[in-house]
Amino acid sequence: MKTQVAIIGAGPSGLLLSQLLHRRGIASVVLEKRSRAHVMGRIRAGVLEQGMVDLLREAGVAARLEREALIHEGIDIAFAGRRRRIDLAGLTGGAHVTIYGQTEVTKDLFEARDAMEGIVIDEAEAVTPQGVDTAAPFVTFTKDGRTHCVECDFVAGCDGYHGVSRTVIPPAMLKVFERVYPLGWLGLLSETPPIADELIYVSHERGFALCSLRSPTRSRYYLQCRTDEDVTQWPDDRFWAELKRRLPEDVAGHLVMGPAIEKSVAPLRSVVAEPLRHGRLFLAGDAAHIVPPTGAKGLNLAASDIHYLSQGLIAYYQNGDEAGLTGYSQRALRRIWKAERFSWWMTNLLHTFPDDDGFTRGIRRAELDYLVNSKAAMTVLAENYVGLPYE
Ligand code: APR
Ligand code: PHB
Repeated sequence: MKTQVAIIGAGPSGLLLSQLLHRRGIASVVLEKRSRAHVMGRIRAGVLEQGMVDLLREAGVAARLEREALIHEGIDIAFAGRRRRIDLAGLTGGAHVTIYGQTEVTKDLFEARDAMEGIVIDEAEAVTPQGVDTAAPFVTFTKDGRTHCVECDFVAGCDGYHGVSRTVIPPAMLKVFERVYPLGWLGLLSETPPIADELIYVSHERGFALCSLRSPTRSRYYLQCRTDEDVTQWPDDRFWAELKRRLPEDVAGHLVMGPAIEKSVAPLRSVVAEPLRHGRLFLAGDAAHIVPPTGAKGLNLAASDIHYLSQGLIAYYQNGDEAGLTGYSQRALRRIWKAERFSWWMTNLLHTFPDDDGFTRGIRRAELDYLVNSKAAMTVLAENYVGLPYE
């Protein structure tokens, strides 16, 4: 098999890249380890920045989003038994976020790839990028017991945090920065109307909580928990009771409870790998960086990486201009570190940590109090939450 760009991973990063390239006449083959059903069944976040929505539009996959997504112009921060609204639109000159699940984004991308007869090979085993530091890279994989080879000009490593792409870069040429938090999030999805029209981020002495949603009939809630928390110890009743205890009274009464459709624990960590290029291999999305979910930046960062990378590849194929590819890593990393900073800050602000002492708790209380009473501080939050520009 021969193509221009071999893409490893059919998550949002890989599918979006292949779709954007296709629309500019650039061929790609996407190789995915898991089955398509598995990829489409994963429950992930659902808050999209405007930059990502624009990119989905450019990729021609925003029709259903435009019909079904919800526009949010604010979020609530709750602490000390009270809720305070952060007026995202008012503080940013009219910006908003779009509520639309990553699961739906992935579904729309798969449908678009199918409609354009894009090649997405799932259940590809032992996917291995090779010769990426030569002029003729290739990717081998096995499928149905047979070994295949994709020859290409470039390899895009879009295979997530546990992918193979990052591991083929010699350790001496890659720096990985990591922060592991002693916290997890226990998430529950239910077919119940959301507790409120907008998201509520809750700082509580029993731990952080988040009320989110997917649609007017589907809710997503999270509770801060231990990293090794056992989901089976959390029957629905226990989850709902704990959530209620962490919510301010005025809103707790509105909680509509119902059976969980999905429940899972995710550990919180921050990771950045540098640089994002090794020869003809480019890393994008979770393959290159992880953020804790507190600011809803993971999916949005994947989108901005793909914006920069697709621009680099398009300029290269259209006019032989290599500047975008040469500058990709530096350009993407500037935005990545800012989102890392924001997610790290929001995580520290809203969670309780096992080794917190009285001083730390006092500082955190003061910062929350300052935040919701200072237009300057709220503007900093709002500007980052709606998404920094694609520079
Ligand atoms: N070979 C082929 N595919 C692989 C391999 C491999 N060795 N390892 C992993 N994959 C696949 C995974 O099965 C997954 O479908 O790569 C895909 C990576 O997708 P994601 O993990 O979703 O990463 P990405 O596309 O970068 O999406 C951005 O942002 O909000 C966060 O974690 C959230 O998934 C989201 C991410
Ligand atoms: C979600 O809806 O899953 C969600 C929303 C906001 C976050 C994280 C997750 O910060």
